[in-house]
Amino acid sequence: MGQQHYHRPVLAERAVGFLITIPHGIYVDCTVGGAGHSQRIAESIYPAGKLVCIDADADAIAYAQAQLRSYSHVIIKQAYFDQIDVILDSENYCQCRVSFLTWGFLPFRLIHQ
Ligand SMILES: C[S@@+](CC[C@H](N)C(=O)[O-])C[C@H]1O[C@@H](n2cnc3c(N)ncnc32)[C@H](O)[C@@H]1O
Repeated sequence: MGQQHYHRPVLAERAVGFLITIPHGIYVDCTVGGAGHSQRIAESIYPAGKLVCIDADADAIAYAQAQLRSYSHVIIKQAYFDQIDVILDSENYCQCRVSFLTWGFLPFRLIHQ
């Protein structure tokens, strides 16, 4: 899928500015989608923080992996976000400080499925 299929976050700089209070914290983007928010979070917490990105949609995950491939402190998992505790446990991230959710659906799913 191309970028045009994905949500383009508005006010992302401001939202992430409010979100990042601990640069060495562990953050979770529960709906990574097109990774617009996650790219900004990843840049803001580099190099000491960690970012876990989750999305239920396989195409969104593939797109996010491509967008975030240069960030070694980012982990990307295909899952429903109600699995957040299992994912954090599996990574030994017991002290997640902030999770982030911009819930929605991908409009092209309505068109193509
Ligand atoms: C509006 S987009 C997210 C935009 C993203 N924050 C960005 O910066 O581009 C919403 C995403 O939520 C995902 N989603 C919806 N329900 C979900 C669920 N229960 N668990 C995980 N992901 C979900 C969709 O697959 C979609 O990629």
